[in-house]
Amino acid sequence: MTEAEILRPHAEVAYAHELRALEAHDTGVRPTGWRLSPKAVVRYIVGYTLPDGTEITTKYFGDRRLIEVAVASLVTDRALLLVGVPGTAKTWLSEHLTAAISGDSTLLVQGTAGMSEDALRYGWNYARLLAEGPSEAALVPSPVMVGMREGKLVRIEELTRVPSDVQDALITVLSEKILPIPELNRETQARRGFNVIATANDRDRGVNELSSALRRRFNTVVMPLPATLEEEVRIVVDRSRAAAERMQLPPVMQDAAAEITKLVTIFRELRNGRTEDGRTQLKSPSSTLSTAEAISVVNQSRALSYHFGNGDIETEHLAASLSGAVVKEPEQDGAVWREYLDVVVRNRKGWEDLYAAL
Ligand SMILES: Nc1ncnc2c1ncn2[C@@H]1O[C@H](COP(=O)(O)OP(=O)(O)O)[C@@H](O)[C@H]1O
Ligand SMILES: [Mg+2]
Repeated sequence: MTEAEILRPHAEVAYAHELRALEAHDTGVRPTGWRLSPKAVVRYIVGYTLPDGTEITTKYFGDRRLIEVAVASLVTDRALLLVGVPGTAKTWLSEHLTAAISGDSTLLVQGTAGMSEDALRYGWNYARLLAEGPSEAALVPSPVMVGMREGKLVRIEELTRVPSDVQDALITVLSEKILPIPELNRETQARRGFNVIATANDRDRGVNELSSALRRRFNTVVMPLPATLEEEVRIVVDRSRAAAERMQLPPVMQDAAAEITKLVTIFRELRNGRTEDGRTQLKSPSSTLSTAEAISVVNQSRALSYHFGNGDIETEHLAASLSGAVVKEPEQDGAVWREYLDVVVRNRKGWEDLYAAL
């Protein structure tokens, strides 16, 4: 497969030129096993212009301090836990951190309810196991084990979906930095550079709490929703522009920021349960009106208008994608949505087209 054919290249591939440029200019102290110094990692995440003019694009929009704290945690002997509501860039940030620090974002364990300890430790190639008995060759290492051996960061997604007793397999790994393999009467010791970045949604229903023993092994960073309307609009404009490229859509001709501002305003008002001016109380729908969801709405509008319209983000396409994002559950969400339209959207200056389309 050529690179152009790959639907979603890994961060370390997609941003290889930025990482190389940062590496070449990096004068900071690099912890053993790190590809960049902590300072250069933060620059990779929040954006920077190098002395030779190379632009490092912004990956994460928001508080720089939060990124510094996250990166500093990874230098210590504690792991990093990113917590927040869905769509606050937990997965996105962890991918870019691992790309910048280890040059490899692929050591990934997706936490699920049915997960077994093997996914965090190791499994066996059963044909070999039966033929030869337990041996190094029959062992199938988990991403955690590979990260320990190679001194790289490992990502564990949705840690709180993993059953508590399975989570506990991480305790020895994180506190002793070893992974025992009793069947072979040996252990894997972690090489410098190894650490874990886990993510957890704090709004998931039916999740398993992190045990306090495990929680102590993590530094927690809470990922906030964008603080202001302007900031959230900036994120949606930037990320949806990148997504348009991936969808092989031409750049939008008309300035889309005005339409996107309306969309983000609606999301924020419904999410917060009141209008931006604070005057009207609103009911919130059951749907997660995250920044990520707003990006999807814009992507869908772009696809609709490119293939079925005149190419610009038009109110009519935005409206079509928007209703579907808000109303996930027809009866309750539908009522909340209709009330919002009648109380807020109908009376807002400059929103007449949007009201009519919706
Ligand atoms: N503050 C932000 N800066 C940059 N991108 C953001 C931000 N918040 C959300 N996003 C975008 O939202 C999308 C979804 O985020 P994701 O990492 O999947 O969320 P989570 O894992 O927290 O549910 C990503 O594509 C990311 O680019
Ligand atoms: Mg995620």
